[in-house]
Amino acid sequence: MDIQHDRSLKNYNTFGIDAKAKHFCEINSIADLKQALSWSEYPKKFILSGGSNMLLTSNIDSLVLHLNIKGKEIVSEDDEFVILKVMGGENWHQMVLWTLEQNYGGLENMSLIPGNTGTAPIQNIGAYGVELKDTFVSCEALEVATLKLKTFNKEECKFGYRDSFFKNAGKGKYIIVSVNFKLRKKNHRLNTSYGAIETELKNMGIQNPTIKDVSDAVINIRQRKLPDPKVLGNSGSFFKNPVIGRAEFEEFSAKHPEAPFYKVSDDLIKVPAAWLIEQCGYKGKRFGDAGVHKHQALVLVNHGNASGKEILDLAHRIMLSVKDKFGITISPEVNIIE
Ligand code: EPU
Repeated sequence: MDIQHDRSLKNYNTFGIDAKAKHFCEINSIADLKQALSWSEYPKKFILSGGSNMLLTSNIDSLVLHLNIKGKEIVSEDDEFVILKVMGGENWHQMVLWTLEQNYGGLENMSLIPGNTGTAPIQNIGAYGVELKDTFVSCEALEVATLKLKTFNKEECKFGYRDSFFKNAGKGKYIIVSVNFKLRKKNHRLNTSYGAIETELKNMGIQNPTIKDVSDAVINIRQRKLPDPKVLGNSGSFFKNPVIGRAEFEEFSAKHPEAPFYKVSDDLIKVPAAWLIEQCGYKGKRFGDAGVHKHQALVLVNHGNASGKEILDLAHRIMLSVKDKFGITISPEVNIIE
């Protein structure tokens, strides 16, 4: 395996931050991964996959292992379902498009989410009423300490809203190398409950949508609201939507009856962070090359040469403003790499 030194990571993170890796190596197989993890001359390793959910705030003083393990395989199938195994280095959206070409349903609402398949379970990616956990069967991960492969079923992954075992107790201990999905071959269950999808399908003049139509609708909506990382560096939603208790919500909504909200349970309410940020006046604002997207206040953007620190400063400023104005704490969804 070829090891490069002082390599820029600008093209390896969707924010387009020009941080450097002290050492860098491509990982194309599980054997490569095992070998690289055992190199004692590089004691510190950093795992990099699609680079779509992280903010690099400094150079990485380690050996960066770029996960690029490819492959898709049908594990089993019957008349109705297919179990599909996808290797971690497969680009998520390309994989979703491929499943739609095969007429496999289940992932269509999550079209155009940036990143790779192997990192999708870490934060239980989701969009337009569907989350990864809805079609997830299991994943295979390499345990860093033992270099052994372990299979995690859905329960063991402890999925929550943008959350899983791999963000908590399992953090830093496992590297996901493949994910198994259960997808429908027929009798597709469309999820168009998310208002914007229904409206989009209507505007597209479609009455009996297929899974491909739902995917097209999602792609249209996302392209209107979310910036293309190839054009404008970003990491999708930078913040999570805060979930607050009923008492806190009553107080908040008495003062701000116009605020949108979603009931999570009888006691918990989710308030859109984008609304809170917009009300604080940040939507479309730019500070040097760090900014807030003009069509979606939840997305921070790099207008060209922002450093990770500049983006992080802006994030802190926004968090303080939201806390001051509304008394609500918002926190990053993106991994901040220090
Ligand atoms: N809103 C504003 N200002 C804005 C944008 C939105 O006030 O600039 C309000 C909208 O009017 C709406 C509410 O905020 O009432 C929610 O907006 P939207 O439906 O666009 O979704 P979101 O909560 O902002 C979440 C996910 C997105 C996902 C969409 C659609 C999180 C952190 N984000 O955003 O995920 O695409 O729902 O399902 O949960 C991502 O994780 O990177 C991501 C893009």
